[in-house]
Amino acid sequence: ITSWLARWFPKTPAKSVVALKTSIKVELVTGKTYKWCVCGRSKKQPFCNGSHFFKSPGLSPLKSKAQETCMVAHCTCKATQKPPYYDGTHKREQVQKAELGSPL
Ligand code: FES
Repeated sequence: ITSWLARWFPKTPAKSVVALKTSIKVELVTGKTYKWCVCGRSKKQPFCNGSHFFKSPGLSPLKSKAQETCMVAHCTCKATQKPPYYDGTHKREQVQKAELGSPL
């Protein structure tokens, strides 16, 4: 039972992993709420598909409500300094050398 507890209540939260090394443009619709995947394990990038619940306990998606309808580039390497938005961080050597699905 100890390992079960450790899985669901980890002492240190799981780390995000690099999902992709590019941005994904998405049209956001005014008033709609979006959940950006923080853990990098969603197969529905850039958004959360619930995978964090089983694969990265301790991490949860970043929720935001669109203030206007517009196209926005979202980060998929999960290292952006402006989450959930793309800021070019994936071009850094550290991200480029990382394997997809691995933490930085
Ligand atoms: S699947 Fe990554 S935060 Fe939900």
